[in-house]
Amino acid sequence: MAVPDLDALLARGVRGQRVLVRADLNVPLADGAVADDTRVRASIPTLRRLLDAGARVVVASHLGRPKGQRAPALSLRPVAPRLAHLLGTGVSFCEECVGPAAAAAVEDLGPGQVLLLENLRFHPGETANDPDFARALAALCDVYVNDAFGTAHRAHASTAGVVPFVARAAAGDLLRTELAHLESVRHPERPLLVILGGAKVSDKLTVLEALAPHADVLAVGGAMAYTFLRARGEPVGDSLVEEERLEDARRVERAADEAGRRLLLPTDHVVARRPEAGAPSKVVARIPDGWCGVDIGPETARRYAEEAQRARTVFWNGPMGIFEIKDFARGTETVAEGVARSEGTTVVGGGDSLAAINGLGVGDRITHLSTGGGASLEFVQGLTLPGVAALEQARA
Ligand code: 3PG
Ligand code: MG
Repeated sequence: MAVPDLDALLARGVRGQRVLVRADLNVPLADGAVADDTRVRASIPTLRRLLDAGARVVVASHLGRPKGQRAPALSLRPVAPRLAHLLGTGVSFCEECVGPAAAAAVEDLGPGQVLLLENLRFHPGETANDPDFARALAALCDVYVNDAFGTAHRAHASTAGVVPFVARAAAGDLLRTELAHLESVRHPERPLLVILGGAKVSDKLTVLEALAPHADVLAVGGAMAYTFLRARGEPVGDSLVEEERLEDARRVERAADEAGRRLLLPTDHVVARRPEAGAPSKVVARIPDGWCGVDIGPETARRYAEEAQRARTVFWNGPMGIFEIKDFARGTETVAEGVARSEGTTVVGGGDSLAAINGLGVGDRITHLSTGGGASLEFVQGLTLPGVAALEQARA
């Protein structure tokens, strides 16, 4: 079903209207300031268009997981100056996101002005998708725009629950662009290469199960790979292994096999005495006792990067090793270089994968950098995103 977009909304006009934009401004903070403004920048085009159209723009987001309590360290206040700088206009801030204080702040807003509301998750009603909280949000606006792709996989009050209570609603440009690019992974030009990393099979089990028979090649890295290797009966030393997932790993391998797809595992490894910076480390083909795997080896990294040259579509999510430790980041970096060199359509999501791409300065050689790690994984495995599904019922 079609989701109303910003074009349709603006065609009907928003001048003087109170437009609530649900953005994903869940950004890392350091020393009371925004440490990485990727998500703030990604929210600008939609806000810009609404402001140019004379809307009174109210921005709402979550930050972190404060569990329904006010947590000063997770205030969105530091995001306001960053937003103001990027928009080139003043942004006021309200310490509440619903109720009389928020209503008064919205009332003060003129056409072409922006208000940022406090962290939605300071209220338990947000993640509980409480209809009363959703109604309270709806009361602040005439029009609702969801541009929070990174949170579209959550059925929360501000992403899904609010929609039935507003007269007009639409997807923002970021949400629309993300979905369009991720569609090219769901319906790929083949061969499709999926590179999946991360620590745990359990975190990625549903995506592994969905993509093993869908991707022409599924290349596995990160600690997840050791569970797969152990399931094959290979030695893994002291590497992180989820014993209770061995059967799942075998099932994923069988699913790939039966569909005639290839599932690639590391054939060499960087191992260390301990998974810590400065610990003695070396490259091996078989992981010895007393050592643990901390990164894919150079040969494996080269193979995965070569697969990216052959693929027409590449989807990558998750680091190949303990990326935050410099000595164990080489595998992830080599894969990042390989994906950047690919001539195919390339889509990358997830914090560490993006950090590797940005650290190498090759972001402009990737077709699409997704602002949603979890959301993009759910979308490419064919799941319905609640934030998108809610908009299918809406009118612009
Ligand atoms: C994210 O960064 O994963 C999104 O902002 C969603 O946040 P969440 O995982 O805490 O729901
Ligand atoms: Mg998340």
